[in-house]
Amino acid sequence: MTEALKQPRVYIFDTTLRDGEQSPGCSMTVPEKLRMAAKLVELGVDIMEAGFPIASDGDFEAVRRVSQEFHWVQVAALARATKNDVERAAAALEKAKRPRIHTFIATSDIHLQYKLKKSREQVLEDAVRAVELARKYVDDVEFSAEDATRTDIDYLEEISRAVVAAGARTVNLPDTVGFSVPEDYADRIGRIARALGDSAIVSVHCHDDLGLAVANSLAAVKAGARQIECTINGIGERAGNCSLEEVVMVMKTRNDFYPYETKIVSEHLFPASEMLSSIITFGPQPNKAIVGKNAFAHEAGIHQDGYLKNKSTYEIIDPKSVGVPEGKLVLGKHSGRHALKKRVEELGYPELTQEQLDAVYKCFTSAADNKKGFMNEEIIEFIEAALEGAAEKVS
Ligand code: KIV
Ligand code: ZN
Repeated sequence: MTEALKQPRVYIFDTTLRDGEQSPGCSMTVPEKLRMAAKLVELGVDIMEAGFPIASDGDFEAVRRVSQEFHWVQVAALARATKNDVERAAAALEKAKRPRIHTFIATSDIHLQYKLKKSREQVLEDAVRAVELARKYVDDVEFSAEDATRTDIDYLEEISRAVVAAGARTVNLPDTVGFSVPEDYADRIGRIARALGDSAIVSVHCHDDLGLAVANSLAAVKAGARQIECTINGIGERAGNCSLEEVVMVMKTRNDFYPYETKIVSEHLFPASEMLSSIITFGPQPNKAIVGKNAFAHEAGIHQDGYLKNKSTYEIIDPKSVGVPEGKLVLGKHSGRHALKKRVEELGYPELTQEQLDAVYKCFTSAADNKKGFMNEEIIEFIEAALEGAAEKVS
């Protein structure tokens, strides 16, 4: 057995189709969810949360169709800790081969006082009752303590133990409002993971309000969590969820620090990101790690020079390993002759003379001051102009 196979397994729970989908500009129709689900299956996610069946008929239908069409994958349906919600989730998953009911209730005093207007005892009772009911329909039940990171830790432990005793196999401790920081989250997760031992998997679900969703998720895994809830491109409520592509690539690239195994096929990360962007109303920002348009672009002349001599000087991930067609060198006003020559060759003009290359470079630098960067088509125009100039000289 190789070292890698001995590494603890971390399950990737994708919630692009649920938490992601419920954020502005991200709603998806049932056929769109099915298309995205096919990509997520190809990517190798362990669990797909396909929707919140009580929320709408569309969500019900999405859970039903996704769980039937991808019957070999675990498919989760979200339900508040109420009878109606759990029964609706169970109905949507009725024909599923690997169904999971994911039931949740808020546990922080802030939510109890202002939102639920319930006591801790009442909430614990609701949670246990919902898990017991869900277990009547499916074996695989996940419980989430919403706003876990602002919940009294003794109460969080008490409710975690109670839902596991009631039959939950996974206990998720969401950083619902993105309030946590890595050290704090690791302490909290470590305490609950020790309390539950082997009786349940501890899961994490981080929002990115402080830009720490990925860091918090990784700290939690180090502290004993074995399921990460995340989304493609990090979409989700407000500032979004933990980005799937980032958290997975950290574990792969810095496996020395995070020696954990996932089943993600990283070559599908960029295609999954592209597909999501084509379905929802926006794509990742250009400088987004792993999948942004500039994630593998090197513009500064010094960087390009080093990169052309050896990619490892400025590239820590091979773009091909995440499915980006090729490392894109953005040609802009900081680019040097080396980079331009390389691009000219890549574009199929290896035979250009030094004089022609100089002509291309001249066109390029005089236009570059007013441009943010050149597309391949524009570079081709410069090349063609230089070639025409040479032809005119001969004729
Ligand atoms: O952020 C959150 O707390 C959630 C739960 C429903 C898991 O999305
Ligand atoms: Zn969430």
